[in-house]
Amino acid sequence: MKNSKIIGLGHYVPENVVTNSDLEKVMNTTNEWIVERTGIEKRRWFTPDKDTVANMATRATKMALERANLEAKDIEFIVFATITPDYFFPGSGVLLQRELGLQGIGALDIRNACSGFIYGLSVADQFIKTGMYKTVLVIGSEIQSSALDKSDEGRSSSVIFADGAGAAILQATETKEGILSTHLHADGDYAEELYVRDPGSSRKTRLSKEMLDGKTFNLTMNGNAVFKHAVVRFSEVITEALKQNGHTPEDIDLLVPHQANLRISNFVQKQFKLPDSKVFNNIMYYGNTTAASIPIAMSEAWEQGKIKEGELICLAAFGSGFTWASALIRW
Ligand code: UT7
Repeated sequence: MKNSKIIGLGHYVPENVVTNSDLEKVMNTTNEWIVERTGIEKRRWFTPDKDTVANMATRATKMALERANLEAKDIEFIVFATITPDYFFPGSGVLLQRELGLQGIGALDIRNACSGFIYGLSVADQFIKTGMYKTVLVIGSEIQSSALDKSDEGRSSSVIFADGAGAAILQATETKEGILSTHLHADGDYAEELYVRDPGSSRKTRLSKEMLDGKTFNLTMNGNAVFKHAVVRFSEVITEALKQNGHTPEDIDLLVPHQANLRISNFVQKQFKLPDSKVFNNIMYYGNTTAASIPIAMSEAWEQGKIKEGELICLAAFGSGFTWASALIRW
């Protein structure tokens, strides 16, 4: 059986930088509160009529292709993770496919929030392992900022979430390196702890005055519940990946956690007794970009020479659903 290897990483973030002091002007918050509770100093929010979920994904893909020394036509299948698609339907995968000029190849959308990229990686990995495809593009791209309540009421979520895109190109390899294992979990009991309720298909009309008045089209999060579950599930799913491959935490060369909150990353780092040099965080500059956060972080870590040939890389995520996931990769 073949293995799949990540041969190119890319990312794109919107040009519009929103600092904590910009947020102080529109809601009752402070730079101190945001930095202390989340670690975030600034984030990128999209510019309407310029950035779309699909065109950010296209830019991230082009960077990944260049780094992989491939052309778009080499991609055989697209796996697109997003919970903030440009259209209610069709999915974002087909829009990216069109922008890349790849009409005809398959495109699959994944809606697993912050765990979406690892779910996508797992799907691509299975397709490659079974021999169905040789080269698969996995994307995480999100525009969260248009679903945020930027009033005092929504401040605990709106200071966290942000926009951006990340891409990974997976290719079949005959060698033993590459994706060693992926681990996927979910618990729908907690679906409403972090969600966007409307527009929902099971309502009498998809859009109504009640929805607009009640702002139920905005992201709603029970931050405390999410935080408490996240720290437990992150640790469990990392342990699961290490155990399956006969590794211990000391073997990890780099942990790239989903950038949910710097306090969550720090907590996980402490639990596994990892030094700062073995955990990559960039939430300080980009906020929480949901499915895009891991590929953006991996792309930057690679750029900075922090992911090297032969190293053991661990990815882990937790988010809406609840969903949680991990991947262990021999680079
Ligand atoms: O991507 C994966 C899913 N998401 C996450 O993993 C996020 C997980 N949760 C979190 O990161 C944190 O729960 C938050 C950052 C959302 C909130 O931090 P917290 O430390 O849990 O704060 P809290 O919600 O317990 O609120 C503490 C206080 C409250 O005031 P009182 O009731 O103590 O007077 C809030 O009203 O902080 C207040 N507060 C704020 N103050 C200033 C909440 N948001 C803000 C704000 N600025 N932006």
